[in-house]
Amino acid sequence: MAKPKVFVTRMIPEAGLAMVREFCDADIWPGDLPPERAYVLEHVQGVDGILSLLTTKMDPAVMDAAGPELKVISNYAVGFDNIDIPEATRRGIPVGHTPGVLTETTADFAFALLISAARRVVEGHNYTLAGKWKTWGPSLLLGQDVYGATLGLVGFGRIGKSMAKRATGFDMKILYHDEFVPADDPFAVEVGARAVDMDTLLAESDFVSLHAPLLPSTHHLIDAAALAKMKSTAILVNSARGPLIDPAALYDALVNGGIAYAGLDVTDPEPIPMDSPLLTLDNIIIAPHIASASVVTRDRMAVMAANNLIAGLTGQRLPNCANPQVYG
Ligand code: DGY
Repeated sequence: MAKPKVFVTRMIPEAGLAMVREFCDADIWPGDLPPERAYVLEHVQGVDGILSLLTTKMDPAVMDAAGPELKVISNYAVGFDNIDIPEATRRGIPVGHTPGVLTETTADFAFALLISAARRVVEGHNYTLAGKWKTWGPSLLLGQDVYGATLGLVGFGRIGKSMAKRATGFDMKILYHDEFVPADDPFAVEVGARAVDMDTLLAESDFVSLHAPLLPSTHHLIDAAALAKMKSTAILVNSARGPLIDPAALYDALVNGGIAYAGLDVTDPEPIPMDSPLLTLDNIIIAPHIASASVVTRDRMAVMAANNLIAGLTGQRLPNCANPQVYG
């Protein structure tokens, strides 16, 4: 029997790719950069499934180009803002994603950004490289304490909660804002995290860390008004999605003392343009969207994405489905 036809928009780790190759007739884009839109539109034609990455949009035009045989879109990511979910659902196409397996790895990195910003690790490294280290200095590169500080978590889902776990080891006071997590949430109670409104979180936190999905309602959630509510000593960390922050407002706040520092793993847009004024600042760390980038985690994501794809191709319920409403 002929194998189902699938288009894979980028190379993923072999752990998952081998499963896809074995089960499917796979057309895999081999480039390091995402394929051009025209290439995608051509190569999805007549496929039964698509394994996508967050770097390629899965919108109605792609679904139209794929045609009526398209049974599943499996995203190699926990986030799925690159996919038009309502449109996929309307067409009865289940969308897979990779929750859970990257939670701890992503929280590790978000916490690394938090500490690196607070203690000016990257500035210290650059200072050393520039040959400026002449002596020990009492006021050289003074930073802020993490231990005992207040951490505000915007979003208290899987990754937000993992940040809270880490924060307890630093005796931090933990605040969170998440309309879906009640104040008496058992985990929140266990770690002593307090549910607060957004204004309180912004006003009281020494560190504000973003763990919310990108939705129309969260686009530029951190704008000039939100930044103005933060402490002038506050550090903003974003490991979720770049467009949660208005980059122009962030630049103003960092330059004019509105907040002290930012640690970003994600930017708006991605990659950050090389002429972005944010790149001229010392009080920011910008990583290239690598929070989930550990060998083990990326392998697990690949296997999960392959399992979702194969389930969709065989008419089974996806083990990890972003639009379960598709099943009625
Ligand atoms: C995701 O999975 O959504 C991350 O942004 C990349 O791992």
